[in-house]
Amino acid sequence: MQPFEAALQETALAVEQVLDQILTLEDTAEARLFTAMRYATLGGGKRFRPFLTRQSARLFGVASSNALRAGAAIELIHCYSLVHDDLPAMDDDDLRRGKQTVHKKFDDATAILAGDGLLTLAFEVIADPATHEMASVRTELITGLAKASGGHGMVGGQMIDLAAETTMLEIGGITRLQQLKTGAMIAFSCEAGAILGRASIQARDALRGYAHDLGLAFQIADDLLDVEGTMEETGKAVGKDEAAGKATFVSILGAERARAQAHLLADQAIEHLSFFDEAADQLRAAARFVVDRKN
Ligand code: IPE
Ligand code: IPE
Ligand code: MG
Ligand code: MG
Ligand code: MG
Repeated sequence: MQPFEAALQETALAVEQVLDQILTLEDTAEARLFTAMRYATLGGGKRFRPFLTRQSARLFGVASSNALRAGAAIELIHCYSLVHDDLPAMDDDDLRRGKQTVHKKFDDATAILAGDGLLTLAFEVIADPATHEMASVRTELITGLAKASGGHGMVGGQMIDLAAETTMLEIGGITRLQQLKTGAMIAFSCEAGAILGRASIQARDALRGYAHDLGLAFQIADDLLDVEGTMEETGKAVGKDEAAGKATFVSILGAERARAQAHLLADQAIEHLSFFDEAADQLRAAARFVVDRKN
């Protein structure tokens, strides 16, 4: 098996190429919008969600060109969510992926529009016949992406996340917050591979169980990095959650127990993959990566 880091890097390069082609630059009056969209998307990020899509799709023999397009659509939504998350009205951050946030580099209005443009472009990309030849498969992808990214998914999670700065949340409330804010898109990243591969119910269930635990572990790690990470490694400001008085797993459990919980979730995620043979080894490695990562 290729080392995990090399496999992640390979997908990152491949997704970068697809995104570069999708995000065209035209010399028109609205060029500033497209420049901001490219700035928000290209040249950074782990591309972990497209990696999950590609690895999940591989389990079912899906061509990587199809998986990369679905992964690119998911990454477009993810990048839009980061642009809006960084706005002054939300987390008010100046640094993202080691460079100025979009509203700092451009301005607030351009950042809002760039986010809007990326969000809608994602659906154009996933609905394109180049993503999958069968219309029924594309419809399932579109519906899944809409649910994961909308009010009952990431956007809903972001709403609760803002409330978590002023309302005390119990562990159950925080789990739900994380599941919506981060878990839903991580889960869909895996689900998309199964949809593209028209996987069996049993395979889908196994993958869904994996992705559920992985998504929670991923966000606990993000919260831990906010406390223990460095700006140099994460490419974003740290210490923001505590400064905002935000309830997270770390604020409730403390760092040690939060870390133990993340490891437990990673173990559980791997258990769910027992349905698959060694073809799922990169997904197993991804569960370890999620809790050990430094960025
Ligand atoms: C950061 O996501 C925001 C969360 C949902 C926790 P990532 O940690 O995947 O950020 P990038 O894409 O690598 O920059
Ligand atoms: C943001 O969560 C998750 C999104 C849906 C964008 P955070 O606010 O914790 O992400 P970072 O720490 O800014 O990357
Ligand atoms: Mg936030
Ligand atoms: Mg943030
Ligand atoms: Mg964070």
